[in-house]
Amino acid sequence: MEIIPLGRTEFGSPANSGNSLSREEAEALLQDWVKNERLQLHMRQVARLMGRWAAEKEGLDAAAQWRWELAGLLHDADWDLWPEQHCHKIIKELEARAVCPEVIRAIASHGPRYFGVEPVSKMDKMLYAFDELSGLIHAYSLMRPGGYDGMDLKGVKKRLKEKSFAANVSREDIQDACQRAAIQQDELINFIIANQLQG
Ligand SMILES: [Fe+2]
Ligand SMILES: [Fe+2]
Repeated sequence: MEIIPLGRTEFGSPANSGNSLSREEAEALLQDWVKNERLQLHMRQVARLMGRWAAEKEGLDAAAQWRWELAGLLHDADWDLWPEQHCHKIIKELEARAVCPEVIRAIASHGPRYFGVEPVSKMDKMLYAFDELSGLIHAYSLMRPGGYDGMDLKGVKKRLKEKSFAANVSREDIQDACQRAAIQQDELINFIIANQLQG
């Protein structure tokens, strides 16, 4: 299926800066729009990673942590019911709900190759970086008898090199994302192993 580029690089309104949805509102949207449980889990996993990264690595306050988390939580919200409108639909929804432009922009840039929007802010870059790598690590946990127990960097790197493993996860995008975020891939992998929400 072809994903249609967004065709713009400005999202939301600066007047809405700092606005977010409440947890309840975000949860309701997720339940309404995403019926696929695996996809829900993926979105929750990326949300958790974003929130923890904002707290631990960026030292942001609780409101900002939640905005990072929200971007992760809703980044694939329209993929389940409207895959042909992926990113377009959720962006319009969040713009209509006057959500902070920073959050909307991060969602818009989570696949630069597809949506044609470059990740610029740290939030943009981290969402892009966590998206694919979190998925690969989750797939790896499912094939390990102990799941995440005892998972280490070495094992994840081995799976990354194995092109046939989780073949839909773009190694190219992972590399590109780490480069853009100026983060060592090892650091990112270790962070995900330590913080990933288990299904
Ligand atoms: Fe996506
Ligand atoms: Fe995703």
